Amino acid sequence: MSATLQPLDLAAVRRDFPLLSRQLRGKPVVYLDSAVSGQMPLPVIERMNLYQREQHTNVHRGVSTLSQEATDFYEAAREKVRRFLNAKSVRELVWTRGTTEAINLVAQTFGRQRVQAGDEILLSAMEHHANIVPWQMLAEEKGATLKVIPMTDAGELILEALDDLLTDRTKLVGVVHVSNVLGTVNPVKEIIARAHAKGIPVLVDGAQAVPHLQVDVQDLDADFYVFSGHKLSGPTGIGVLYGKLAHLEAMPPWHGGGNMIRSVTWEKTTYMAAPGKFEAGTPPIAAAIGLGAAIDYIAALGLERIAAQEHALLTYATERLAAIPAVRILGTAKNKASVLSFVVEGIHPHDLGSLLDGDGVVVRAGHHCAQPVMARFNVPATTRASFAYFNTHAEVDALVTAVIRAIELFK
Ligand SMILES: Cc1ncc(COP(=O)(O)O)c(C=O)c1O
Repeated sequence: MSATLQPLDLAAVRRDFPLLSRQLRGKPVVYLDSAVSGQMPLPVIERMNLYQREQHTNVHRGVSTLSQEATDFYEAAREKVRRFLNAKSVRELVWTRGTTEAINLVAQTFGRQRVQAGDEILLSAMEHHANIVPWQMLAEEKGATLKVIPMTDAGELILEALDDLLTDRTKLVGVVHVSNVLGTVNPVKEIIARAHAKGIPVLVDGAQAVPHLQVDVQDLDADFYVFSGHKLSGPTGIGVLYGKLAHLEAMPPWHGGGNMIRSVTWEKTTYMAAPGKFEAGTPPIAAAIGLGAAIDYIAALGLERIAAQEHALLTYATERLAAIPAVRILGTAKNKASVLSFVVEGIHPHDLGSLLDGDGVVVRAGHHCAQPVMARFNVPATTRASFAYFNTHAEVDALVTAVIRAIELFK
């Protein structure tokens, strides 16, 4: 944190989230589940509301003032994403439904073009299912193999293994920037550089990174970078695929239909240039505009101040939970974002999650769509608290008190 960094005005920030003043089962809600989906602040909700009430029609169609206006708002949101990621051009940004759809798009176009029988796709040991299953489907179709970069017990990737794993058969590396289970911030820039040294492209799953870290796709030199709006204080139903223009231009379209064509005859269809050729059909216009508003909101708070607040919460929560003898924290990497997974001896995470819920504390209990991570740590599931910039130290106390109460109950 720089010396002059003013902390966030938490009381003011919290007023932007009406859900935070709700009661759950008679208790104030303590929302510690932003990694599953973030809450939307009022300015985002109001921006979408205004669009729906007064500005809606379809985009990229027709000459009406309304249609041009809607198109301008929608494309302005793409420009906001461009600035947010520091992409070179808006042409490198494809709207998708979310991270999952973005990865499937890459697998079924770029992947399908490049991967052949006997080839390898290299993923990290801490991927979300969204960055495993699309590649597994492709590997099955093509007769290719998935390989895995292993990790330590602390939840850090073992990069010494990388040079051996990157072979002349590796056609793509897929790596998560921040693990949704362990919170590890992976050294993606280094991984990309090492893959590029062998001419191998890299896709980065940024779903859990963009809410916490300043991401610069040019500095990272990522070939593809993907994320979802709903984890970035925006709405569901919208996400982003960043791809280097040369890749997007060389990739075939994915879904066919309206909006993505230059001309259609019974004999042949020609396609728009990127990103249009990947955006068939009517897009989620309000959601895209909402994501633009979320990026404005985050920028106004400042990612550096957001990260400072979340880091303080993570440190405090880690210290307090680690002090409870029955608690084991999973993921103790040196560089972590505000995701805290733990197990409590003798209590199944689902039971713990239900008990915490009874105290108004909302966390996620389960395998977090990362069953290989559960297998690696030999647990069926974990309980995961994830902190956003609107959370407070008092809410961490509420979590710890509820965990202690649960342990007492199970004694
Ligand atoms: C690391 C990571 N990747 C991918 C996803 C999938 O995101 P979505 O369901 O928004 O497509 C998630 C969601 O939890 C995630 O945490």
